[in-house]
Amino acid sequence: MNIQSVKGTRDFYPEDMARRNFIADLWKEVSIRNGFVEYDGPIFEYLAMYQQKSGDEIASQLFAFEDRGGRMLAIRPEITPTLARMVNQRINALPRPIKWFSSPRLCRAERPQKGRLREFFQWNIDIIGVEDCLADAEIIFCAADFLLAAGMTAADFVVRISSRRLIAAMLEYFGVEKEKLNAVYAVLDKKSKIPQDAFEKMLEEAIADSDKRRKILALMSVDSLDKLGGIAGADENANKAIDELKKLFGWLATMGIADLCKFDIGIVRGLAYYTGIVFEIYDKAGDMRAICGGGRYDNLLADFGGQKITATGCGMGDCVLGIILEEKGLLKNLAVANSIDYFVAFAEESLQNDALKLIAKLRRAGAKADFSYKGGALGKQMKQASAVNASKCVIIGQEYQTGQLVVKNMTDGSQQNVAEKDFFDGLRQQ
Ligand code: HAM
Repeated sequence: MNIQSVKGTRDFYPEDMARRNFIADLWKEVSIRNGFVEYDGPIFEYLAMYQQKSGDEIASQLFAFEDRGGRMLAIRPEITPTLARMVNQRINALPRPIKWFSSPRLCRAERPQKGRLREFFQWNIDIIGVEDCLADAEIIFCAADFLLAAGMTAADFVVRISSRRLIAAMLEYFGVEKEKLNAVYAVLDKKSKIPQDAFEKMLEEAIADSDKRRKILALMSVDSLDKLGGIAGADENANKAIDELKKLFGWLATMGIADLCKFDIGIVRGLAYYTGIVFEIYDKAGDMRAICGGGRYDNLLADFGGQKITATGCGMGDCVLGIILEEKGLLKNLAVANSIDYFVAFAEESLQNDALKLIAKLRRAGAKADFSYKGGALGKQMKQASAVNASKCVIIGQEYQTGQLVVKNMTDGSQQNVAEKDFFDGLRQQ
């Protein structure tokens, strides 16, 4: 039987692992320097958790199954609901604000395409318990900090920012019923992702009234914060949302990243739980889906049975990101294998046991050490030492009977006889 890998999954060969680790290590480093601490949760949860508040799109992409006890479960398509559940469970014991990060492996039964798979990794940074949009600014700063640290520049990416609060206020101002808001968000989120006529058709299905549709289309074409005032009129909620966006852009300017950010009313986000500022980061050159997306979700903790505590955060997947970093040549020169400190070669088969003992001793002393399973001619063993990038070669020959090791520097070829005791004393001092 010829077994294939499953559609939408990836195999990570050592060179792919080097790339994956580069991204994951940098996610972690940038999280920590921005004041976040790491958490994780289980890879499956109750199915109902994702059906309740994540929205229809995610609910239709779940890998769900029934366990032997008849419980309906799902592999996590995102970690935000788990975060809300975990924070709720310990809310009185956790010091606030809560600044947590995680890099979970997630599964979504999407149609696989460039940058979208059925299994992927997603960096999450979230701040819980800070009402001011300074927390949203911090999330945006941290995501941008990562992309800049990875080698991208202001010419490469843009953070597009909008507000669900603003869109909700405007939709209600236009007379759209509250119960319909989620359905309309799902349509508006598709605006830049599908052809204009397909978008207008979807909008027509959600909103029958042509006058409301005309107003919504006019709103969706506003291209600057300043022009919004005219459309919002005296609507209090809309004006509050506009003021909040202005404040956010103020914070972003203070933090020195205003040039990376742009107001874009078209950012609505696909998930149902967002309540305020929302944003997505895009590659300027390509037409791929977002590198990163997030926003404020002030009701999710309460919706999951907890207190009403404000929260904001974002998720960045490794797929679109990996393609972009690769295209820009920012994933080059990543070491595939560990380089070896000491390669132990033995001059004849009778010395193999001594070589093995030395290898064990070196490894226990913390050095990276390896040897040839086959042994054979010293020249061949040296070749193998070069192939694994060994810095030094320790040769066990006849002089080993008198406690002497031959240590060869693989960079300059120089060779030295050293007493085994002195060699290990030196190693300990390093
Ligand atoms: P999301 O927009 O569904 O948000 O996903 C965020 C990012 O995850 C996307 O921009 C993309 O980079 C990546 N992503 C999503 N689906 C896939 C896929 N099928 N294949 C590859 N990459 C994918 C969330 O998941 C929110 N929970 C983020 C969040 C955290 N909001 C607040 N805190």
